[in-house]
Amino acid sequence: RDSKVIGAQLLEWYDRHARVLPWRIPPGKGNADPYRVWLSEIMLQQTTVAAVKAYFERFTSLWPTVQALAAAEDARVMAEWAGLGYYARARNLLACARQVSEAGGFPTTREGLQALPGIGPYTSAAIAAIAYDLPETVVDGNVERVVARLFAVETPLPTAKPELVALAGGLTPGHRPGDYAQAMMDLGATICTPRNPACGICPLIGDCDARQQGIAAELPRKLRK
Ligand code: ADE
Repeated sequence: RDSKVIGAQLLEWYDRHARVLPWRIPPGKGNADPYRVWLSEIMLQQTTVAAVKAYFERFTSLWPTVQALAAAEDARVMAEWAGLGYYARARNLLACARQVSEAGGFPTTREGLQALPGIGPYTSAAIAAIAYDLPETVVDGNVERVVARLFAVETPLPTAKPELVALAGGLTPGHRPGDYAQAMMDLGATICTPRNPACGICPLIGDCDARQQGIAAELPRKLRK
């Protein structure tokens, strides 16, 4: 298997099929503003894309920059957050906005990003890749599933997580890593779905070990809770 070929096939698919999302710049058209990437990724933790869209539009029209959000009243932001749940996220959001605004902008490295309130390994990698085109590997549940299937990883989650992160890292191209990260998420959300994956239209069908073994829909395995 050639990770360069997989990366190229996935980007070619993304160029034609990328979902149109309010926080996204169309493929190949450059990089999104770190403020918009950060805000969308925080909202998308534990909340679906469909539910986040309207909140994202509302927040960015009320507060188009991190400086504007930093200057907002706490109660106003909490009121606009109502419905998204997990209110610790909103409190961290404001703390982060104020720290970034004070510093004059978002840090430009993954390490710098991860030192901010509410930003963990997933969000730091997403901002670094999507806003700055740094070759960081972004692994969410969608990406775990795609990689588990491509490599037919039988180890159940959560034990398999480090292995899946390493395999995903090996696929991340130096070229357009931000589009690549979003292509993996879109593939997982629209084709390589948890149930009834649409293997017949998957751009990676020729590279997928699980498909070859007839076990795509069974992966990733999960330890019983
Ligand atoms: N889920 C979380 N972040 C996402 C993104 N940037 N694009 C699509 N789905 C996502």
